[in-house]
Amino acid sequence: MKQRIISSKNFQTDLAIAIAECEHDKTFILVDEHTKELCLPLIKSFHGLKKADVITLKASDLHKDLNSLSHVWTALQAYGATRHSLLINLGGGMITDLGGFAASTFKRGINFINIPTTLLAMVDASVGGKTGINFGGLKNEIGVFNDSSFVILNTQWLKTLDTENIRSGYAEMLKHGLIANETMWADLINFDLANPNLDQLDPMLAKSVEIKENIVEQDPKEKNIRKALNLGHTFGHAFETWAMHRTPILHGYAVAYGLISELFIAATKRGFPTDKLRQTVRFIREYYGVLPITCDDYLELIEYMHHDKKNRNNEINVTLLTEIGNIHIDQIITEEEVKEALDFFREG
Ligand code: GLY
Repeated sequence: MKQRIISSKNFQTDLAIAIAECEHDKTFILVDEHTKELCLPLIKSFHGLKKADVITLKASDLHKDLNSLSHVWTALQAYGATRHSLLINLGGGMITDLGGFAASTFKRGINFINIPTTLLAMVDASVGGKTGINFGGLKNEIGVFNDSSFVILNTQWLKTLDTENIRSGYAEMLKHGLIANETMWADLINFDLANPNLDQLDPMLAKSVEIKENIVEQDPKEKNIRKALNLGHTFGHAFETWAMHRTPILHGYAVAYGLISELFIAATKRGFPTDKLRQTVRFIREYYGVLPITCDDYLELIEYMHHDKKNRNNEINVTLLTEIGNIHIDQIITEEEVKEALDFFREG
């Protein structure tokens, strides 16, 4: 069954429809300790969920590991889940990634529904079938591509989300705007991210998810155009890993910094318009600040880029735009170009 994404106006009804359409002798809800407190009470009394068993994990990406996965499998087994049971993942990307993988592997696969509760999970993690866990010190090292039956999007969850997490998810929306078209990009960089209006964000979120959905539909296993979704991520992952060894930053902040660097390379190497580079950089600097790297950090960052799992032959690979919406995947860049982009990132 193709993944169905519902931009929900009536959450209770839409969830009931989704559950009814999925085979389910028993229903389970996977939460982390935060969504258990903040989100679960809002759905637990719904018809069809009163009897659902709840499985709770510790929050944060640090726990997206084999222990937590084993905990989910063990709980499913202990509560008597069968091949016809249903798992509902209620949480951020950690819950939808790990829950999706647990469901995809339990008795060779049971149905699951994603209810993303963070902006990052809504626009990225919960859509497109990437599931998995971190392993051996590497992020998302073990996993499978497998779609949830439904993703139910509802901005009501964002009311409890802090500013940093809103901004983190918004960076992926900005990325979608850049790979989509100028109108979407302009709407995004004109949005007041200091005082985000959820009613205004709602249609932007739906459009953003549509961009991702269209790309994933063309290339579900990331052999080709899905690589466009890695825009900003070659530098972004390196920044994220660098920060992890010092003061960790949220994924979307790293992506926003990565967008600055990779758009700079696109402008110098492939003629991406400098006015659009400047406007995007201004927006990112205003809401995401800067990362305090110095030229002494360049070699470490380059080392992380070489280890990126998108690479082959130890080359550094990025997605470059010649214009907004004009995507060139699999572009090899030199270490010199990386250093120039890092100079630009630091000095703007
Ligand atoms: N996060 C990028 C993708 O789903 O392909």
